[in-house]
Amino acid sequence: MNFENDLHTIAKLHKSDKLDHGYIEVYDSYFKKIKDKELKILEIGIADGQSLLIWSDYFKNSIIVGIDIHKIDVEEKNLDKKNIRVHQGSQSDKKFINEIINQYGNFDIIIDDGSHISKDVKKSFHLLFPILNNKGLYVVEDMQTSYNHFFGGNSFDLKYSNTHMNFFKNLTDRLNYQEIANPFYTTKDYDAQITNISFYHNLVFVRKGLNNTVSKEVLNHSYEDMKFQEKSARTGNKLRYYLKYKIFYKLYTYLLFILYFIKKIILFRF
Ligand SMILES: C[S@@+](CC[C@H](N)C(=O)[O-])C[C@H]1O[C@@H](n2cnc3c(N)ncnc32)[C@H](O)[C@@H]1O
Repeated sequence: MNFENDLHTIAKLHKSDKLDHGYIEVYDSYFKKIKDKELKILEIGIADGQSLLIWSDYFKNSIIVGIDIHKIDVEEKNLDKKNIRVHQGSQSDKKFINEIINQYGNFDIIIDDGSHISKDVKKSFHLLFPILNNKGLYVVEDMQTSYNHFFGGNSFDLKYSNTHMNFFKNLTDRLNYQEIANPFYTTKDYDAQITNISFYHNLVFVRKGLNNTVSKEVLNHSYEDMKFQEKSARTGNKLRYYLKYKIFYKLYTYLLFILYFIKKIILFRF
């Protein structure tokens, strides 16, 4: 191993707290195969610039863009490097983020190490995920703030609160959107656009990619329609399977749908 180019060594050199958090080990497992490519990398949150310096040294052929709500003194923080660009603005300011997008286009890696406030983390994801390249990675650090009400998180209602952890947990359903056997299912943001979501201690990785594999279980979100088509084609007995799947099983599905809808109203859960 070439220790000079080893992510762990570089992070140590720049005294990064990403080491203490245990993030470097995880980053290493994703980044070692792509470190020599020509990538565009965006990190939200610069502070003293340690992480920008790590990426600058590690991804030698890439452009590293850092944004921070506060003014960053590039010279004082030693960030005046050939492959580093620094901009001031907020991660949740649509106009500012659009200016970044207009200037740099798509990114291959986006890391959110900014405010760690729930609404900012979610807003940035909505603004930036669309311009992540195919197979690109969207990373959010310090997910522990999701369990802390001082950051807009929630430490009491872990399952249904509007936190960024729950946002990413719910995003896992977008991986299997085509399997949802609900005939009233309507397309959601990010359906067909995510191939992997990985959770680590305080860290989330979302891999963008085309996920349009057709379900083998349901047809247009209907198990009954799939079974009717399969069985009537195989046996030629249309009437029998029409009564079974299109009438009887469908009524059962509609009944369940109504029961869950009533439950949602009673629990006020939308
Ligand atoms: C944890 S520090 C970043 C550390 C840096 N990424 C590193 O690892 O060396 C968080 C930074 O996010 C910045 N920040 C806070 N709110 C922000 C926002 N709404 N938009 C952009 N940056 C923000 C802060 O000014 C601070 O510099």
